[in-house]
Amino acid sequence: MKLVSAGLVFGVAMTAMASSALAADAQRTSFGKLNDGTPIEKVTLTNDHGMSVSIMTLGAAVHTLKVPDRKGHIDDVVLGYDTPAEYLADPQYFGASVGRFANRIAKGKFTLDGKTYQLDVNDGPNSLHGGADGFDKRVWKIDSVKSGPIASVTMSYDSPDGQEGYPGDLHVTATYSLGKENTLKIVYKATTDKPTIVNISNHSYWNLSGAQATVGAMHDILTLNASHFTPIDSTLIPTGKIESVEGTPFDFRKPTRIGLRVRDGSSEQIRYAHGYDHNFVIDGQVGKVRQMARLEDPKSGRVLEIWSDAPGLQFYSGNFLDGTMLGKGQHLYREGDAVVFEPQLFPDAPNHPNFPSATLNPGQTYSNTIEFKFSTEK
Ligand code: BGC
Repeated sequence: MKLVSAGLVFGVAMTAMASSALAADAQRTSFGKLNDGTPIEKVTLTNDHGMSVSIMTLGAAVHTLKVPDRKGHIDDVVLGYDTPAEYLADPQYFGASVGRFANRIAKGKFTLDGKTYQLDVNDGPNSLHGGADGFDKRVWKIDSVKSGPIASVTMSYDSPDGQEGYPGDLHVTATYSLGKENTLKIVYKATTDKPTIVNISNHSYWNLSGAQATVGAMHDILTLNASHFTPIDSTLIPTGKIESVEGTPFDFRKPTRIGLRVRDGSSEQIRYAHGYDHNFVIDGQVGKVRQMARLEDPKSGRVLEIWSDAPGLQFYSGNFLDGTMLGKGQHLYREGDAVVFEPQLFPDAPNHPNFPSATLNPGQTYSNTIEFKFSTEK
């Protein structure tokens, strides 16, 4: 009798130990096929605090991200599609790892070491998010999947010299990880065999009320730790100036409802972008992971903080969601239904010597660390 009960106690203790050691789990599953038959996989990271995130090999993109609201109700809070094929057809970059150069390059042209390169032009006169077939349209390889105190997946992509006009063979990795805190950490790294330019970011669209909610994100309260921003021209390319946010609709240093000034037509900047679609110069030390932004949804109580070591943050208020995209669960996405926060180098950096450099040389490693931290407010 004694021996058996000792064994039971031991068994319980072992189970408790095993579950705390495996605070987060990683599962690899199929996510269907592209129209040409290419299989797409998905890796789901789950912790024991109600958070889970699925990343698909197409575009190393966040497909689903579920977190609890203030009452413990769990919802998916990112926009996306039900099938991989729909992502290929769409220009919205839902959840994707965007590159080689996230954001715009004027006329798709830049000069490096005296040589001028012409990139694919896919956004009016400019190149956007790496060109028409950027990293979001590529199938990434799964390098490793781990469960444990921290669950993670590393995906990689080899972009050949000349792809979309960029020089150099570029090797890129994206590592997504989730531990017991409700924080999704993403680390992008890249190396090259020839001098090139790199800027990689994540393009998740957030609606903290839920991706299928009947309200959008314009009622959310935003704080941006930015005293300056980079004004744009009518094609959304930075003019090169770095201006103070003081007295403009771009001052989010104190918590402010996004919708309060998103229609402020007295601002030429707001008119150019049909709302917010601007790079903010984040205060504090570049290279140090620091808080860039905080978004609070008063309805659900969900709070999202964005942390990164990058110099800038593109804040895009979902201006081009025009009701033609039929998302997950047959939900139509309309203007302002979600917002995007892209920690990155400044847009068009290769054409502005006063902006932090986007050049990557052989022997160097490009890196961008992003943390999306979730909590709730009463
Ligand atoms: C850009 C927007 C663009 C959107 C989707 C954002 O990162 O700043 O201008 O419409 O991506 O293409």
